[in-house]
Amino acid sequence: MTIALSTRGLCRSFGAVKGADNITVEFTAGTVVALIGTNGAGKTTFLNLVTGYLKPDSGSVLLGERNITGMEPRDITRLGVARSFQIPQLFDQLTVDENLEVAEIIARHASTASQTKELARVRALALERFGLVPQRDQLAKTLPGGARKLLDIAMAVVSHPSVLVLDEPTSGVSAEEKEGVVETVIELARGLNAMTLFVEHDMEVVAQYADRVLAFFEGRIIADGTAAEVLDAPEVRRLIVGTALGADGHA
Ligand SMILES: Nc1ncnc2c1ncn2[C@@H]1O[C@H](COP(=O)(O)OP(=O)(O)O)[C@@H](O)[C@H]1O
Ligand SMILES: [Mg+2]
Repeated sequence: MTIALSTRGLCRSFGAVKGADNITVEFTAGTVVALIGTNGAGKTTFLNLVTGYLKPDSGSVLLGERNITGMEPRDITRLGVARSFQIPQLFDQLTVDENLEVAEIIARHASTASQTKELARVRALALERFGLVPQRDQLAKTLPGGARKLLDIAMAVVSHPSVLVLDEPTSGVSAEEKEGVVETVIELARGLNAMTLFVEHDMEVVAQYADRVLAFFEGRIIADGTAAEVLDAPEVRRLIVGTALGADGHA
């Protein structure tokens, strides 16, 4: 099995707080992995470390065989790691279509003609599946919250990543849209054979879509396995499931 991404002894502190505490983990190419844990558990810190938005105090990050520790986010993006954010990062003065085009241009950096064609297909599919077709010529700044979120995710997907990182893809998306958004993202990710890391508070969604679940607590991974295994682990039940988390999906 090919390892798409791995970390070794990854540590990052914020003063006395350990955001990441010695994280060693390997992710198989093409798998879909959910990150769970209460607020402040270190999920976003971990994603920031693997995408270059934070530099580790020690430890390393490998993309395939390549050591990407300390590289800038844009260089990591060019190597095929795409991410969406808890708060959407859009080009507000550009239209929906133009935002997607920018994301594609970044991806096209190292792609062949057939990949370019594939990108166009994925873009059309993303527009359609995310329900953004009617808004394609609208400026991003005029979009309502849910649509901003969808566009941010669509931008990560159209760059044809080998690793797709989604921080709370369904926060701010209405309850009715939620399942559809996750289903769409995961389907597109699987179609691209992208290894996907997503932070999700809804345990039903986690159980339905993730091949593997990592539970975070105080910067450490306290459980790692299938959804059934992890959601049943005593420490997860004690520290995560049944806490405020899940009640409003935003603990
Ligand atoms: N840039 C930062 N500066 C200071 N503290 C931070 C920063 N980023 C995260 N932290 C702290 O690190 C811990 C983990 O945060 P985070 O990774 O955002 O958790 P999660 O995404 O699981 O809610 C928290 O205690 C948080 O306050
Ligand atoms: Mg977070």
